[in-house]
Amino acid sequence: MSEQKAIIIGASSGIGKELAKELSRRGYTLGLAARREELLAELRGELAPPAYIRRMDVSQPVSARQVLQELLAEMGDVELVVINAGISKHKASWEEEQQTIDTNVAGFVALARVAMDYFTRRGAGHLVGISSVAGLRGFGISAAYCASKAFISMYMQALRQKSTRLGLNIAVTDIRPGFIDTPLISGRKYPFWVVSAETAARQIYTAIRKRKRLAYVPRRWRPVAWLLKALPDWLFIRLPV
Ligand SMILES: NC(=O)c1ccc[n+]([C@@H]2O[C@H](COP(=O)([O-])OP(=O)(O)OC[C@H]3O[C@@H](n4cnc5c(N)ncnc54)[C@H](OP(=O)(O)O)[C@@H]3O)[C@@H](O)[C@H]2O)c1
Repeated sequence: MSEQKAIIIGASSGIGKELAKELSRRGYTLGLAARREELLAELRGELAPPAYIRRMDVSQPVSARQVLQELLAEMGDVELVVINAGISKHKASWEEEQQTIDTNVAGFVALARVAMDYFTRRGAGHLVGISSVAGLRGFGISAAYCASKAFISMYMQALRQKSTRLGLNIAVTDIRPGFIDTPLISGRKYPFWVVSAETAARQIYTAIRKRKRLAYVPRRWRPVAWLLKALPDWLFIRLPV
């Protein structure tokens, strides 16, 4: 089997960290990026060598793009880029909403463009973005987060449409997690049907292997998503979240 190479942005904890371990077990050579470089260095010790690590702050798009370009050049022939980095604040202040938009929206676009340009030059590739079930409706407790995840899903749909229209061999996969047991939701009031980050990573790997367009993680969130989308507005706005 030929060597496969992948980059995970936001690999220092939670879903990104477990996905790194899963892909490493499956034979991928990995590039890992996040702000907490010391956690990436620890994680590298658990992966099959070589693994490349880079400090990257996604909310600083110019430098983040440069870091990704350098990592792609250093690793060479990268097949898969996963943009997992994201933040979520409940009852956010304006500053927190701004940070959410900088990270989840502006950062995502900045890096997705680098990946798509790279795959276009390479002639093939696979972009995976982590959105959320929260992107399906606007919950008052986390308005900017829900809107940012809706943006990511719609942006990836557009990239997929463009790739198909131009006959490019680039897959675009939208991963929509429900609740995953990671630092992002620790102390939250409402989580239900929570699964471990390991389970999420296994299901994300399956979606990657099948080059799926869209995957709910865990899979049992699919009917919840359907219900959320189907709820009439007059009923949705009365939900206590
Ligand atoms: N957990 C859930 O229930 C859930 C549900 C739906 C969607 N998601 C999505 O899943 C993704 C991963 O979240 P998680 O649950 O695994 O949370 P997590 O454990 O907090 O991990 C978030 C990751 O994003 C990175 N990150 C955040 N801001 C960044 C920045 N400015 N620059 C670079 N990296 C940044 C973090 O690295 P550093 O802090 O080291 O930079 C970390 O590696 C997020 O996009 C989240 O929105 C999670």
